[in-house]
Amino acid sequence: MNDTQTEQKLKVLVLHGPNLNLLGRREPEIYGNMTLSDIDAALNEQAAKHDIILRIVQSNHEGVLIDAIHAAIDWADGILINAGAFTHTSIALRDALAGVNLPAVEVHLSNICAREAFRHRSLIAPVCVGQISGFGWRNYLLGLTALVDVLSTHKEEEE
Ligand code: DQA
Repeated sequence: MNDTQTEQKLKVLVLHGPNLNLLGRREPEIYGNMTLSDIDAALNEQAAKHDIILRIVQSNHEGVLIDAIHAAIDWADGILINAGAFTHTSIALRDALAGVNLPAVEVHLSNICAREAFRHRSLIAPVCVGQISGFGWRNYLLGLTALVDVLSTHKEEEE
């Protein structure tokens, strides 16, 4: 593939926040049995079908996630993010998303509004295009579909 062909493809940064590396073993009654590798494989499969380039990062560290968002500014067209517990606590993550100003879609495996009160508020939701929560691993695929739809519409409007 030459540089022009790569440039024309949509590029998405996928971010997985803290504790999501334990998926499959972590509270399966809430988060299901799929491992993070299973989810990444499903995302890569969907990306290949739609000719999208993905860069996938998981970290348990807020700063690493922020650095990945900053690095996306010159590379990605959009961001798909499950910020895990940082969703409810991190003004810094929210500021990073606002700072790079890339369309972002927030996803959660569980229905955060049906859980403890401290999970009801998302600090990143106001700087995301939308949020999908409660459909387990499928949310990642639904989120990617929604994000690509938004990005394709933007591209068409620019052309
Ligand atoms: C989560 C929901 C968060 O409240 C929690 O801290 C997580 C996972 C989800 O995908 O359902 O780590 O983001």
